[in-house]
Amino acid sequence: MNAQPVIDVVNLSKAFGPKVVLSNVNLQVREGESLVVLGGSGTGKTVLLRNIMGLLKPDAGHVAVEGKIIAQLDREELFKVRQKIGMCFQMAALFDSMSVEENVGFSLKRHTTMTRAEVADRVDECLGLVGLKGTNHLRPSELSGGMKRRVGFARAIALKPEILLFDEPTTGLDPVMTDVIGRVILDLKHELGVTTITITHDLKSAFEIADRIALLFRGECIACEAPADFRRNPNPVVQQFLKGDADGPFLQDPPPPKRAMSRALHPPPA
Ligand SMILES: Nc1ncnc2c1ncn2[C@@H]1O[C@H](COP(=O)(O)OP(=O)(O)OP(=O)(O)O)[C@@H](O)[C@H]1O
Ligand SMILES: [Mg+2]
Repeated sequence: MNAQPVIDVVNLSKAFGPKVVLSNVNLQVREGESLVVLGGSGTGKTVLLRNIMGLLKPDAGHVAVEGKIIAQLDREELFKVRQKIGMCFQMAALFDSMSVEENVGFSLKRHTTMTRAEVADRVDECLGLVGLKGTNHLRPSELSGGMKRRVGFARAIALKPEILLFDEPTTGLDPVMTDVIGRVILDLKHELGVTTITITHDLKSAFEIADRIALLFRGECIACEAPADFRRNPNPVVQQFLKGDADGPFLQDPPPPKRAMSRALHPPPA
């Protein structure tokens, strides 16, 4: 195994205006490893993936993919790195006007010199890998939520990426379909040997999929460890997240910055 991490997130910070979303986040994902990232809604999980894809630029720190610092790449270099990454977006994001086949084959037609027959073969192969053989001519409107997600996966693996990023692949699905999706992710990992980052709220699939689990909380990565260690992690935030309790530090507002507090206590005269 390559000693260098495939994805190296180093002291990554990102804010939007005054809102600090990620603060000094460090994460390393090794070749063939499956990292699951947990965190409450709005904690910056999608922002983290968008930094890895080079869709957002860090304010400080960097993301390196296979040793290349993403924010320093020119368009062509970034395009090459992106070709190694399959992104499965939150809510599948399929093209509604295209059939399953056209959705999955889209990047093949656009970014390769493959013939129509080769594209058709690759599309069939990808649909087979996600358990959707024979759905080629259906439209997204004819698919269930779970099928849509799997078409999204098929589209993401079409260009044979080395890295797969899944953004909440099971949100909105019933528990059985959630389990099916978890297994598809595991199958893809084993069949393709890809390095994966999966963002999820579903703890059951997190523990099934993960080699390591990270938890984002208030912009920081407060844990990143093997599932068994994560389960035993004494940090009250980790334990509250695992139990799904309403009571605990997870939902408490962070203390306001000192200046804001002083202004609230001593408002300027009107
Ligand atoms: N382009 C942007 N401009 C301004 N604010 C943004 C932008 N992208 C994200 N944010 C803000 O950053 C915060 C984190 O967003 P993000 O989408 O990463 O959350 P998340 O952890 O993926 O949440 P969820 O679980 O609900 O998907 C949110 O408050 C969001 O409003
Ligand atoms: Mg998100």
